[in-house]
Amino acid sequence: MSALIGKNILLGITGGIAAYKAPTLVRQLRAAGANVQVVLTESAQKFVTTTTLQAVSGVAVRVSIWDEAAESAMGHIELARWADCLLIAPATANNISKLANGIADDLLTTLALATQAPIFIVPAMNQQMWSKPATARNIQQIKSDGAIVLGPASGSQACGETGLGRMLEPEQIVDTLLVHFTTNQALKGQRVVITAGPTREAIDPVRFISNHSSGRQGFALADAARKAGAEVCLICGPVNVETPNQVERINVVTAQQMLNEVMSRLENCDIFIGVAAVADYKPESIATQKIKKCPENKNTSLNLVENPDIIKSVTQCTRPPFTVGFAAETENALENARAKKQRKNLDLIIVNDVSDIRIGFDSTENEVTLIWDSGEQLLKRAPKNEISQSIINSIADVFNSLQKP
Ligand code: C5P
Repeated sequence: MSALIGKNILLGITGGIAAYKAPTLVRQLRAAGANVQVVLTESAQKFVTTTTLQAVSGVAVRVSIWDEAAESAMGHIELARWADCLLIAPATANNISKLANGIADDLLTTLALATQAPIFIVPAMNQQMWSKPATARNIQQIKSDGAIVLGPASGSQACGETGLGRMLEPEQIVDTLLVHFTTNQALKGQRVVITAGPTREAIDPVRFISNHSSGRQGFALADAARKAGAEVCLICGPVNVETPNQVERINVVTAQQMLNEVMSRLENCDIFIGVAAVADYKPESIATQKIKKCPENKNTSLNLVENPDIIKSVTQCTRPPFTVGFAAETENALENARAKKQRKNLDLIIVNDVSDIRIGFDSTENEVTLIWDSGEQLLKRAPKNEISQSIINSIADVFNSLQKP
């Protein structure tokens, strides 16, 4: 059931071009079950109309504190109390500056001062405006006053420039509010580090050794862990998957780089989940020039040396986090996984049989068995994002049971 059902969202829209996405945002919030009251600033009305927003929100849009009819129906203080959250999307540099300084010179900024509800700010502006020290100061100020700032994203901008300053997409905003209103957060406050995707080991400047890992399973787990309330850092090899909302992503290429990034984060890590398909071996040396084909040689060979075992390094550190590993097996899956759990000293291992082409590596679905010290659990075939939620719930159950005195 959606955590947004029956929630009262006060949506402030300010005057930036990203306001054209606001009607979509309203529709998505309503589809998730929320009640939405829209407040437009004067300049926002140059970008979207009250007619459109009234049609999608189902209630009259508020634009002025001096509207006597609207004020007598629900005064601005009542409106501020009605809200379960105030969401400002898009929030312009000017609006953020007013919030940072406690200015209340229109209905929206007055509501921001009057409400006790959490305030979510979704900035959208030209990348130069975003990078100005004044904006950075104002963002810092509103954050330390308790506002939650979402984004901005980076990419092409309406002004033709490219950089930081794009408003997050409506679905990312709705997703964040869903997490905020979800009360059952099994990993609330826990710091989770996840490795994902393949690693690449260079042979020469144009060739490498790697594998078919898509990264999808690790990314889906990162998203599920974040939705369960964790602070998530995702360290991934070269993959083409979108970073989940509010997850810190660190890109690496080789196993050694992945190991370095993991080890530097262990002190602040409660749960480590190794999903990456790390290359077990790498070329002994990397040729500085492209290795030429030699017509007289029918055969050739490559000298390989072992890569570090990242998850083993994690469990061997002085104060290891709760450590979860994966085992992709092609035969005797459970037996091999139990042995691997022992060998790598894992708290929990998740095994899948990759000889079944419907699940595992490059597929969109998975079926896994979880094995920990005092139990085993089969999670039946399901899309990777669904199974990830079940995996995270089970990890949280085992982890939380061990934290109890
Ligand atoms: O030994 P195997 O590769 O089957 O073990 C799989 C588990 O170990 C996965 O959790 C994987 O992320 C982790 N692993 C690792 N470093 C390696 C090899 C595997 O962290 N070099």
